[in-house]
Amino acid sequence: MLIINKLKKSFSASEKPLLNNLELTLNSAESVSIQGASGCGKSTLLSLIAGFDRPDSGDIFIDNLSITKRTNNAHDIDGFRKNKLGIVFQSFNLFDCFNAWDNIAFTARLKGNYDKGYQQALMQQLGIVALSKKPLSQLSGGEQQRCAIARALVHRPSLVLADEPTGNLDETTSESVADLLYQTCKNTNTALVVVTHSSDVAKRADRVMRLHKGVLENAESEETLVTTTM
Ligand SMILES: Nc1ncnc2c1ncn2[C@@H]1O[C@H](COP(=O)(O)OP(=O)(O)OP(=O)(O)O)[C@@H](O)[C@H]1O
Ligand SMILES: [Mg+2]
Repeated sequence: MLIINKLKKSFSASEKPLLNNLELTLNSAESVSIQGASGCGKSTLLSLIAGFDRPDSGDIFIDNLSITKRTNNAHDIDGFRKNKLGIVFQSFNLFDCFNAWDNIAFTARLKGNYDKGYQQALMQQLGIVALSKKPLSQLSGGEQQRCAIARALVHRPSLVLADEPTGNLDETTSESVADLLYQTCKNTNTALVVVTHSSDVAKRADRVMRLHKGVLENAESEETLVTTTM
């Protein structure tokens, strides 16, 4: 459902491209985790997949629709994001003017598939039901992070992009939130790309990868190689 072909992206003409002929294919219900050094281009890659930015060259297809060769009509990409994508941003991007419930419900209401019971169940599993009426300014970083995860799932997207989804959570909460994210996507046939610095969160994915020198490498086979050659 996600195909990335020879993706190139540079922010500086004098340096090597940040993403250099990067390739990735992901099926429905499949999850991939991406680790890598700070600044190696992980958030940039998610931003290209979501159509917030454009690559220098290469293609990205989601459900056979080209994200890179789309028209300049902003409406197209907004509609595509609303219908297909769930995004957990590294900096949450919640609305300060809404309470927790309305923040989470936002995309589902736009898409027209708002389901109060489903939202309630997701919030229950994330341990944030009691926060429903709280204004955003009264939520901790970890509470906002869990709201951002609920918002990314509640409209039943076909692809979820999660950038450091547990970066603000303690170890125990991080485990249960990661479980929910992976399980919900699996149960709803949703593909999942998780960018994370946590090996515990990364290893739950079907495929564990590393972004290095502009391409995605299989992190598992690297580890196997190290242990077998030692
Ligand atoms: N819009 C932009 N203009 C210029 N440079 C940018 C832009 N966005 C990102 N960069 C640069 O591209 C590089 C990769 O940034 P990116 O945010 O993708 O890293 P990352 O792998 O997500 O890092 P982290 O793990 O710290 O979140 C960084 O050096 C960053 O400064
Ligand atoms: Mg980042």
